[in-house]
Amino acid sequence: MRSMGLADVDAVLAIEQAVQPYPWTRGNFSDALSGGYRCMVDEAGGVIVSYAVLMPVLDEAELLTIGVAASRQRQGLGRTMLAAQMRWASANNMRRIFLEVRVSNLPAIAWYRKTGFIEIGARRGYYRNAQGCEDALVMACDLIDENLGRDHG
Ligand SMILES: CC(C)(COP(=O)(O)OP(=O)(O)OC[C@H]1O[C@@H](n2cnc3c(N)ncnc32)[C@H](O)[C@@H]1OP(=O)(O)O)[C@@H](O)C(=O)NCCC(=O)NCCS
Repeated sequence: MRSMGLADVDAVLAIEQAVQPYPWTRGNFSDALSGGYRCMVDEAGGVIVSYAVLMPVLDEAELLTIGVAASRQRQGLGRTMLAAQMRWASANNMRRIFLEVRVSNLPAIAWYRKTGFIEIGARRGYYRNAQGCEDALVMACDLIDENLGRDHG
């Protein structure tokens, strides 16, 4: 696992466009990099297989996006990436990670629940979609030992 650089954006974008119904753009990734967010990639055999972008906000962090290449999903890579971001946030005195997820993204919601996130609220009409807009579920995970220990990777 290592920091993402501008040279990685093509590979990350290819995964993002394949696995996200409403993918981030190249500009979103380059803004995240220039904004100093914690952008990480994981490689297997020299090929990027997962990525995540975390935005520190005072003593919290927001997980902005996370993705695993379609052919490599459900092999623990997402959990390993998330756990690495959580450990970094904890080591940097953040006490909680939160995120917004589309209410229609049921697989991701199930996955976040499994990795220790709980629902703390909703934002009405937060995302645009083909019908107009849809709500976001707001989820959070306290960076306590119990949750940091969920990953074994
Ligand atoms: C969501 C995502 C990041 C999960 O990564 P992953 O590598 O596939 O998941 P992991 O293998 O780390 O899963 C860890 C655990 O969650 C479980 N899990 C994975 N996907 C799941 C799903 N869709 N529903 C329920 N549980 C799931 C796994 O079985 C595993 O549990 P286990 O160890 O007890 O078997 C990945 O599927 C993805 O890129 N999805 C598309 C993009 C997306 O929706 N991102 C989130 C919103 S930005």
